[in-house]
Amino acid sequence: MHKFTQEILRLVVTLVCATASVSSIAADASTKSAARKQIERGQYLVMITGCHDCHTPNFLLNGGKTPEKEFLVGGSLGWRGPWGTTYPANLRLYFQEITEEQWIKVAKEIQRRPPMPYYSLNAMSEPDVRAIYSYIRSLGPVGVPAPKFVAMDKEPSKPFVQFPMN
Ligand code: HEC
Repeated sequence: MHKFTQEILRLVVTLVCATASVSSIAADASTKSAARKQIERGQYLVMITGCHDCHTPNFLLNGGKTPEKEFLVGGSLGWRGPWGTTYPANLRLYFQEITEEQWIKVAKEIQRRPPMPYYSLNAMSEPDVRAIYSYIRSLGPVGVPAPKFVAMDKEPSKPFVQFPMN
């Protein structure tokens, strides 16, 4: 091949490669910011829908000042009533063990004992449910599983909140 033609070809190849890599960097950046936005939306939703009230220790009592690293680790404060004694699950562990698609299905169908407001989850739109998944999963696994449910006729260990037994 003529030296000049070779030179032009080399230039074209270089340009094509450069354009491809610039556009792939741009695509990466926009995926990253989409993922970031999704996480921020989840953070907002978890805050305004009240998940922290029960799933983040002391959140109710300290005016929401628990640091984010301790968010949603579940609780050893029991909620006792005619249903028995329930403990808010450690959602930091829960969300590591479930896929996003499984979570979509769970959120739509979940029913749990009081005081878990499962009906709020059932009523959420799929984009909101997905955003919550992205956020809680992004926090990573921390803490230990919450204590096991205690049946109605058994006395739970302290501390627990007592609801009227009717
Ligand atoms: C008023 C307290 C309270 C609030 C608010 C609350 N939860 Fe719960 N949650 C609980 C309790 C208690 C349980 C355990 C119920 C049981 O044992 O049947 C639970 C269980 C769950 C479970 C089931 C975990 C498992 O292992 O199956 C999920 C998921 C969950 N909560 C997510 C959420 C999300 C997301 C929010 C916010 C939208 C939220 N919860 C708000 C108290 C609460």
